[in-house]
Amino acid sequence: MHPDLSPSLPVIPEVCAELWTSAVRVLDANWAGDHTVPSRTLHPHQRSWDTAFTAIGLAYVNQPRAWRDLGSLFAAQWPDGRVPHIAFDPDTPEDAHFPGPRFWNVPAYAGRPALSSTGLVQPPLHALAAWEVYRHAAAHGADAVQQARTELDRLYPRLVAQQEYLGDRRDAGGGGLASIVHPWESGLDDSPAWDEALAAVPANPGPPARAVSGATHPPADTDHARYAGLVLDYQDGGYSDTGLAERHAFVVECPGFNAVTATAELALAQIAGVLGHPSEARRHRERARDVTAAIGRRLWNPETRTFHARDVRTGRLSPAHCVSGLLPLMLPDLEPDRVDGILAELRSERFGLPAPSHDRTAREVDGRRYWRGPVWIDVNWLLRRGLLVHGRRDDAEELRRRLVRLAHRNGHFEYFHPEEGGGLGTSAFSRTAALCLDLLADRSAPAYARAA
Ligand code: GLC
Repeated sequence: MHPDLSPSLPVIPEVCAELWTSAVRVLDANWAGDHTVPSRTLHPHQRSWDTAFTAIGLAYVNQPRAWRDLGSLFAAQWPDGRVPHIAFDPDTPEDAHFPGPRFWNVPAYAGRPALSSTGLVQPPLHALAAWEVYRHAAAHGADAVQQARTELDRLYPRLVAQQEYLGDRRDAGGGGLASIVHPWESGLDDSPAWDEALAAVPANPGPPARAVSGATHPPADTDHARYAGLVLDYQDGGYSDTGLAERHAFVVECPGFNAVTATAELALAQIAGVLGHPSEARRHRERARDVTAAIGRRLWNPETRTFHARDVRTGRLSPAHCVSGLLPLMLPDLEPDRVDGILAELRSERFGLPAPSHDRTAREVDGRRYWRGPVWIDVNWLLRRGLLVHGRRDDAEELRRRLVRLAHRNGHFEYFHPEEGGGLGTSAFSRTAALCLDLLADRSAPAYARAA
């Protein structure tokens, strides 16, 4: 194994200081006036869950910017509650990113001009981000605490509407989980978790199957044609979610997406508590338990003893072992037997710490291709939270050290080779930089964590 990924070296103070400084530099360089872009080159528009990850880091160094970033994203929220996966920057040319605003062809809504966003969503990490920014406000003084309360007050109804959209309109399978209607909604775009469901999607010959500009390891052309075709199909139906399971070709329940959705309810419970809404807080906790139970019922495979994505149209679980299957570890009410299953999978030769995006032993694993093998710091940050939630502090600390070392040796890359450790994708990635700040600064466990 490459030294970047090897165990138990302490992280020395010089490393921490250098990593902190470089992370702040990346976040400053990617600030676009009222939001942060994930990357100036590869991802030049504001992204939904990137904004949440970024706010978690900005919480330490620039609280007003963290709130502004979240506020800009929620200004693009649709009247039905969905938060678009991209909010387009009107000054960025159409061809700077494919597919650009004209391809999505979203009508004007809620005071926003036409073509200002996409109609897809991403994992709803924003309530957790808002809570984390609030939690760190006290370190910035009384004004920051005051601002944090005002911002929570403003965001809370929007965050609730986001959850209601997912819990209601997106419960296409009727079993209490949100479905994604496109692999891009998962945040783990090209994951093998979608291979089976995607194989049944017609490859649309119409739209230009062009790789995301600048991508170093783009998806196969047929996958790209399917991605584009799915967008056009959803668009043809006016981005409506009625009858999805019957008329849309890709309807999938992802364990990672739904684990984030349940975590959002737990964060909303904490936010509602601060805002003085105790009955709302109870409702959010109940909802977190309901989603956790539904994940356990619908996405657990007793033979593999881990979680898999479910194709709502066929009822089949994906055979792939992907990092998204480990993310329900974030949920405090997950049954102990399921927690044990995830921990065994995580410690097995398939994964290890840090966890790669895909099973290391799988035939189709590829350490360089998007979500088909590389290590992402952000999903490992979510996993580390899961380890803390279930009292696995030693593993959480080990993972923290390895992630810090990976970023320090290589830079704030988008993802990393799982064996060689080298950086891949874009090199000044906001999500990586922001989470490095959190990994350096905070070792506390969530308030609802279970004892070891
Ligand atoms: C890729 C990732 C997605 C992310 C986006 C911008 O599409 O798969 O998770 O939001 O890049 O960083």
